[in-house]
Amino acid sequence: MGNTDKVSLDKQDFGSDFKWGVSVAAYQIEGAHNCDDKGLSIWDVFTTVKGKIRNGEHANVSCDFFNNYKQDIDLIKKLNIPNFRFSISWSRLLPDGKDRISQEGISFYHKVIDYCLESGIEPWVTIYHWDLPQALELLGGWTNREIVKWFSDFVSLCAASFGSKVKHWMVMNEPTVFVGAGYFLGIHAPGRRGLKNFLPAIHHTVLSLAAGGRVLRTLLPTANIGTTFSCSHIEPQTTAKRDKQAAIRVDALINRMFIEPILGLGYPFDDLPVLKKIKKYIKEGDKEAMIFNFDFIGLQNYTREIVTHSFLTPYVWAKIIPANKRKVPTTLMKWEVYPTSIYEIIKKYNAYPQINKILITENGAAFQDHVLENNEVNDVERTNYLKEHLAQILKAKQDGYKVEGYFVWTLTDNFEWAEGYYPRFGLIHVDFNTQTRTIKNSGYWYSDFLK
Ligand code: NOJ
Repeated sequence: MGNTDKVSLDKQDFGSDFKWGVSVAAYQIEGAHNCDDKGLSIWDVFTTVKGKIRNGEHANVSCDFFNNYKQDIDLIKKLNIPNFRFSISWSRLLPDGKDRISQEGISFYHKVIDYCLESGIEPWVTIYHWDLPQALELLGGWTNREIVKWFSDFVSLCAASFGSKVKHWMVMNEPTVFVGAGYFLGIHAPGRRGLKNFLPAIHHTVLSLAAGGRVLRTLLPTANIGTTFSCSHIEPQTTAKRDKQAAIRVDALINRMFIEPILGLGYPFDDLPVLKKIKKYIKEGDKEAMIFNFDFIGLQNYTREIVTHSFLTPYVWAKIIPANKRKVPTTLMKWEVYPTSIYEIIKKYNAYPQINKILITENGAAFQDHVLENNEVNDVERTNYLKEHLAQILKAKQDGYKVEGYFVWTLTDNFEWAEGYYPRFGLIHVDFNTQTRTIKNSGYWYSDFLK
């Protein structure tokens, strides 16, 4: 990574309306996985399956945000961060996924929202960040078309319960990742594999995304309604035609497959032919039902991918060249540090005239941070990563592309899904034995920058 002392950033250059924040997700931080009458989620169950999570870890306790929320919101305030993006655990509100409501669950999120508002912090709520109730998974989860109704009812409950306090909503987090890793590769909950799970899960997720948007719009006509997508800049390894075509297929798979039907463009069948098999799940009226005009699109970017043609990878006939084989700087996730990717991504999504607003709802980096004897966490690589990405965002803005916010992933070190607690992404270090929080130098840097 370059020497970012040279990167001088001034918050004012981003404009006074630019939204600055930090993002978290329920399962990764809350703990209290079975307290009161909370039902189990697919992650509570998946983490008990041997060999699925690094070191056999789980998030039954994690940062115990359920009990520590005041302390953590105090820290957000201390860091001068004005916007807090968090998600709602579906099975904390509806233990069986539908019908039976948990008043304790509702009351927990009221406490979090109220404490944010009292502290002068604006809550940004993600309705679904991957923790499907296990009771619904037993009925087929995202492969069952009934989920459009179950999900819409959950969205209604969230809107009715918190809509008078929460102005900013995101319907879902990164569908490509939870559907791809959970329903095709089997490496995330619920651990399903293959096209027979993947294709119906894609289609029902798209229908639910749009349906969720419509529920929010109807119940909360003045709310700011968005949703978030993972995206990475894709480049072919060489200029050979078959590498370029492989890159087009991977781009369709990871950057276009969910957003384009929502924008009214349909699935990218031409650039990813295997998707044509999804047609058997599409019913009359779906083409219109898949569309929703979101107020904003949240983009989440961490890296870029270099792609080559491969006969060995069925359906996409392409392979991603791992960053460690390319001798480039990486984070603990083995993701290349490549700040230009965020510029390219902003540019790419600006080209869709249907998108109203773009915010970066996640960006951040995992390193192996240690608390030194003087209580300092000297995570200079993370500070550099954030500065270099912000410099690219500013450049995009100055080049005339719209981008109106930036949320760091994440507040405190937490449970990084299949990677467990090994990658630390936080602005704040957590000792998981004692629940001690230590603000890292990147946290102090962000707080100074936001002052
Ligand atoms: C995307 C996800 O939304 C979040 O849950 C995850 O921890 C980060 N990226 C880092 O991988």
